[in-house]
Amino acid sequence: VVAWDPQEQALAAAVEWERRERASAPATSPAPGVVTPVGDVRAAVAGAEYVQESGPEQLQAKHALFAQLDASAPPTAILASSTSAIDMSAIADGLRGAHRCIVAHPVNPPHVVPAVEVSGGRLTAPETVQRTVALLRAVGQTPIVLARYTPGFLVNRLQMAMLREALFLLDSGVATADDIDAAVRDGLGLRWALLGPFGVANTNADGGVREYLTRYRTSIEGLMRHLGDAPVLDAGFIDRIGQATDDMERGAPRAEVREWRDRLVSRIVALKRADPHPGHRGRMDHSTRGL
Ligand SMILES: NC(=O)c1ccc[n+]([C@@H]2O[C@H](COP(=O)([O-])OP(=O)(O)OC[C@H]3O[C@@H](n4cnc5c(N)ncnc54)[C@H](O)[C@@H]3O)[C@@H](O)[C@H]2O)c1
Repeated sequence: VVAWDPQEQALAAAVEWERRERASAPATSPAPGVVTPVGDVRAAVAGAEYVQESGPEQLQAKHALFAQLDASAPPTAILASSTSAIDMSAIADGLRGAHRCIVAHPVNPPHVVPAVEVSGGRLTAPETVQRTVALLRAVGQTPIVLARYTPGFLVNRLQMAMLREALFLLDSGVATADDIDAAVRDGLGLRWALLGPFGVANTNADGGVREYLTRYRTSIEGLMRHLGDAPVLDAGFIDRIGQATDDMERGAPRAEVREWRDRLVSRIVALKRADPHPGHRGRMDHSTRGL
């Protein structure tokens, strides 16, 4: 793996962070490669099979960067973007190599969370999608291919739906930030690491999702109509959210919370690999790779 960033400091910090992570990675995780820093973009992509762009989240910056990558990378290299929300059709607009451009959106913290959203643009070739999916699987990730572009893809749409409601509950004084977070971290979130909204609904009634939606139809429809609207994130509101979150965190250093998060996420991922969902046992994905 070769890494480049126009800011020397950012590149040095990234390489240093990767070395520390590699040294502390548990023996069971996939063997990590060695990351070599290089001083310019042409050297970074010369000879590459796969390029992962993670520059600023602005269409103009990404468009310019992709034009540079398309001109410098070998013609068979895949050019992937980490963008969290931008349509690849716009990033690759007018590029000769638009067929090899694709979104591969990782989920934070990407070195321990397996999901990667894969989204092609209008001109992305099916072969580019297939090769990207194969490469992500080979390095232990879980690719999720979107059938078409939608702003925010899946992950951020779902995340924002939850955040919008959490902000609405906080703003209307129903509960504190700590109690709203507890409903997730000590409630819903424990199941969500194992089952998504459909899997949860399917286990919420003896008769599965059909019975759940039929039996509770009136209350589910009513509750959904009652959910909060999109908030206005003005400076005053952001400050109140910041204060509520500070109270909840009780001064814990953010770096320590992140390290704790990454350590436990890795353990949850390892637990799921060792004891997969009954319907997924034997499936050829990250959970069975290498067994
Ligand atoms: N932060 C997250 O949680 C997260 C998660 C998934 C995807 N992403 C996506 O990854 C990308 C990067 O996110 P981030 O939070 O690291 O952003 P960031 O702004 O913190 O970092 C961007 C980096 O790009 C570098 N850069 C600036 N101009 C550049 C150029 N012309 N060419 C190459 N590099 C350039 C900067 O020096 C900086 O190191 C974004 O597209 C973002 O949407 C972020």
